[in-house]
Amino acid sequence: MDIREELDILIRSRQPVISLVTGEEERAHDLVKEVAQRLNGRDLFFWNTVMGFRREGGSNPLEEGRMDPLTALQRIEGYRGDAIFVLEDFHPFFEQPVIVRMLRNLLHSLRSSRKTVILLSPFFKLPPEIRDDVPQVFLPLPDYEALREILHEICDSRDVKVDLSKDAEEKLVKSALGLTENQARGVFVKSILKHKVLDQSAIQLVLSEKQKVIRKEEVLEFFPAREKISDIGGLDNLKDWLKKRDKAFSSRAKEYGLPNPKGILIIGIQGTGKSLTAKATSALWRLPLLRLDMGKVFGSLVGESEERMRKALLLAETISPCILWIDEIEKAFSSVTGAGDSGTSARVFGTFLTWMQEKEKPVFVIATGNDITNLPPELMRKGRFDEIFFVDLPHYEERMEIFRVHLSKVRPVIRNYDVALLAGETEGFSGAEIEQAIINAMYNAFDDGERDFTTEDILQGIREVVPISKLMSERIERLREWAADRTRKANKEVH
Ligand SMILES: Nc1ncnc2c1ncn2[C@@H]1O[C@H](COP(=O)(O)OP(=O)(O)O)[C@@H](O)[C@H]1O
Ligand SMILES: [Mg+2]
Repeated sequence: MDIREELDILIRSRQPVISLVTGEEERAHDLVKEVAQRLNGRDLFFWNTVMGFRREGGSNPLEEGRMDPLTALQRIEGYRGDAIFVLEDFHPFFEQPVIVRMLRNLLHSLRSSRKTVILLSPFFKLPPEIRDDVPQVFLPLPDYEALREILHEICDSRDVKVDLSKDAEEKLVKSALGLTENQARGVFVKSILKHKVLDQSAIQLVLSEKQKVIRKEEVLEFFPAREKISDIGGLDNLKDWLKKRDKAFSSRAKEYGLPNPKGILIIGIQGTGKSLTAKATSALWRLPLLRLDMGKVFGSLVGESEERMRKALLLAETISPCILWIDEIEKAFSSVTGAGDSGTSARVFGTFLTWMQEKEKPVFVIATGNDITNLPPELMRKGRFDEIFFVDLPHYEERMEIFRVHLSKVRPVIRNYDVALLAGETEGFSGAEIEQAIINAMYNAFDDGERDFTTEDILQGIREVVPISKLMSERIERLREWAADRTRKANKEVH
C-alpha cells in the first residue's frame, strides 16, 4: 500500500497515536502535510521540545518556544478541534514514566475525537506499555520516480549541461536507489561540481558514494564480488540451478510469468565453497551483493535490533534487484530456540521470516550455514526458500577441478602438475584446505631458494594440513544424515 494511503486510513480510522519511522524529517513533513490536506479541515501542528508548537497554515492558538513534553501532551488533550499533531523526536522521553502514562491516557481519550498524534522518529522504538496500540509506519526511501524528479530539479535549477542518453539517465537514477532524498541530492550535486557536466561518469561516482553511505548503515555491506562462477570447483547441481535462473529477474522472465526466485539456503561444513557461491552468484547474475551482518543487527542497543533488521530489509528492497547474503545464519538465529533468550532474537527472526514469506520485490536471499543443530525448523518450511542445498566435501572429480581452479590462478601452465594424483591424496579435504595445501607448497618452494613449486611440493603441503573432516567425522556424519531427506545435493554424483 502506498504510504499516503496507509497514513490516511490510520487517521480516518481514528488511531489516536501513530508512529512514523524515518530519518528524513523533511520528507515526513511533506507527507503529513499532503495527507492533512486530503483530510480537509484538519489542523496540522508540528512540535518539538525546542520550538514548541508550530501551526501549518492559519494562526497558532498553541504556544511556541521551549516546552516540556508533558505540557505538550496536555495541550493536545485539551485542544478543541480536529487536528493532527506531529511530535518530532519524542523517543528520548519514553524514559519518563509520566510521559508513557500520559500517552496511554491519550490512547483512550483521543479515541472519541478527531485528533491524531504522530510520533516522528528515526528509530523503531516504542515503550512496551503502548507498543501494541500504536501502529508503526515506515517511510520508504525515495523510489525511482522520486529520484528522477530530484535529478531533473537539480539540473533545471543549476543550469547544468546534461549529456545523458535515456538509458544512461535511467542507470544514473537507478544507481542512486537506496539513498535518502538528501543523500541523493548531495551526490548528484557533487557529481555535477566535479565534472561540470552531467554525463555517464556520474554513475560511477554515485555508486561509490552509495557504498560509503551504506557502509555507515553498518548492518548492510556492499560486497564487491570478484569471484566468478568458474572459480567454483565442483558443486555442479548448485551451479546448474543458479545458471538456469540467470535471467530470472529480467523483464522478459516477468512477461513470461515466471515468479521471482526467493532464495536458497546452503548448508555444509566450513570451507566447502558456500560463501564463494554467494559471491559468484552476484557476478553470474550481475546483481549487487549485500551482506547482512547479523552480529551488528544484534550487537546494537537493546530494542534496536528489530529496527535495524527492518531497515536493512527495506534498504535491500529499495536497491533491488539484488542479492541479500546472510552468512552463517545459525549464528544469528540459533538463540531463538535456545533457553534464556530475551525475546529479541525471536522477534528479529519473526520479522525476517514474515518478510521472506511476503516479499514481492526481487531480493534474492542466499543464506549459508555450517551447523544445523540449532537452526529453528520454521526456517526450513516450504515457501521460505526455493531450495535447501547441502554441500558435501568434494569427491575425486571435484577435487581435481578445485586444484585446477586454484593452480591456474597462480600458474598459467598447470599441466606441469599431476592434478589426478593430488586429488587422490586429498580425500576428505575441503576446497579451502586444498587451497591451503597449494599455499603451503608455494611457501616451502619459495623458502627453498625461490624455486618454482612442483607436484611433490604440493604433496608435502597436503601432509601439513589436518582436514577438519578428520577432527569432526562424527558431526559430518550426522549432518549428512540430517541432509539426506531434507535437502538437495549441491555436488553432482558421478558414476
Ligand atoms: N568448491 C570450491 N572451489 C574452489 N575453491 C573453493 C571451493 N570451496 C572452497 N574454496 C576455497 O576456499 C575459500 C573459503 O571457502 P568459503 O566459500 O568461504 O567456505 P564456506 O563454505 O565456509 O563459506 C574460498 O574462497 C575458495 O578459495
Ligand atoms: Mg562461509
